[in-house]
Amino acid sequence: MTEAGQVPEDISADRPSVARLYDFFLGGHHNFAADRELGRRLLSVEPNARQIVAENRAFLGRAVRFLLASGVRQFIDLGSGIPTQENVHEIAQRGAADARVVYVDNDPVAVAHSRQILGANPLVTVVGADLRDPAAVLGHQKVRDLIDFGLPVGVLMITVLHFVPDSDDPEGIVAGFAAALAPGSYLAISHATQEAVPGTVAQVQDLYKSTTAAAHPRTSAEILRFFAGFELVEPGLVYLPLWRPDGAPPEHPERAWFYAGVGRKVSG
Ligand SMILES: C[S@@+](CC[C@H](N)C(=O)[O-])C[C@H]1O[C@@H](n2cnc3c(N)ncnc32)[C@H](O)[C@@H]1O
Repeated sequence: MTEAGQVPEDISADRPSVARLYDFFLGGHHNFAADRELGRRLLSVEPNARQIVAENRAFLGRAVRFLLASGVRQFIDLGSGIPTQENVHEIAQRGAADARVVYVDNDPVAVAHSRQILGANPLVTVVGADLRDPAAVLGHQKVRDLIDFGLPVGVLMITVLHFVPDSDDPEGIVAGFAAALAPGSYLAISHATQEAVPGTVAQVQDLYKSTTAAAHPRTSAEILRFFAGFELVEPGLVYLPLWRPDGAPPEHPERAWFYAGVGRKVSG
């Protein structure tokens, strides 16, 4: 990946990427034939896939607005992806012009796309890095330049932790980020679960094995453990549409089989 943001030549167009697949579900244009083919197979298994992705983006928006209202002015978006619209910095800077955002992703297309849409915004940056190495992310010069770790930070891990297998110690990874945060910082997570529709999720999980990152749905108890050291704000860990909905939630929120929660760091 070049600093200029050109798409590097080492991208494998034959192997579906979880970032490009997500872009396909969002209706974006940063995906290849292999991504679209797998996307269509996934849609035949889970016809609600596009709605679930939309619910996830809506949760992201509500979470960022909640953090803004709670006084947070700096955000680290881990596994930021290839969002086509309503990016974190757009939502955040609409609420507070001085809001600062660091995007982090390990997918070259996601990083190149983020660089493209950022333009010359001095309060936003993108880092191509693997979140499984918190020390490398937190120590990155661009992160140090933009984020003041003496002040609260909103860390977003939206639809990304289920791409980290237990063997990579996701709890330790989250704890690595949490340790660097000032009290009053926040952690927002959305995460796939097998609890509501186990058969569908097992088929989806099977199809994701051919992508750049296999999927590891978790139970609510397992996801709650990521919030160690944080106090969950109301309404706790709930299905996506139930987290502080703007309007009436759908009749069957469990059909968006992702849990969502936001926690506030309680002490140093
Ligand atoms: C499903 S997308 C979610 C994008 C965005 N967070 C959202 O919820 O709209 C997951 C993103 O996480 C990224 N990702 C997966 N594993 C990662 C890792 N180990 N380090 C950094 N990014 C990762 C993928 O490249 C992809 O862009």
